[in-house]
Amino acid sequence: MLSRDEALRLVKNTSKYTHALMVSCMMRELARALNENEREWMLVGLLHDLDYDEVKDDMRMHGIVAAEMLKGKLPKKCIYAIKAHDYRSGVKPKSKLDKALIAADSLASLIEKMGKEARELNVEKLRAELENISANSPWYKNNVLRCEEIGLRLDEFLRLCLTAIKKEKC
Ligand SMILES: [Fe+2]
Ligand SMILES: [Fe+2]
Repeated sequence: MLSRDEALRLVKNTSKYTHALMVSCMMRELARALNENEREWMLVGLLHDLDYDEVKDDMRMHGIVAAEMLKGKLPKKCIYAIKAHDYRSGVKPKSKLDKALIAADSLASLIEKMGKEARELNVEKLRAELENISANSPWYKNNVLRCEEIGLRLDEFLRLCLTAIKKEKC
């Protein structure tokens, strides 16, 4: 399995670097809370958009190309989560890892859109913004609410993800 440094090198020059860092911090925090494998969940967060720059004109391939690039470098369940994180690939999310990635990925996108520093955010603001954006883009809420399928209420999920991104280093 890749080390964190090796994974960082792979994503460093992609347009999704900052996003990947945020998702990886969230995923590690979620794994810790759920007693799952922190290293695997962190790596999945870091690498889930590895192919984005290559496939952005054909998002049906999103995750599929990354899976090819990562073959043999990550456990199969991690590669599956990457393939299943964007519905356009047609790969269905099944495990807790798959669903956590979908929820964290959408929450990270929401936070990026808000354009605020982590320290300016709290659970109430995130919940309000989630409602707000979901009026026109319901998939945000649908994706974030996947947290309930992994045993976390929305507020608890938001709290854990906020804790993660407020840390100096995750
Ligand atoms: Fe993605
Ligand atoms: Fe993403």
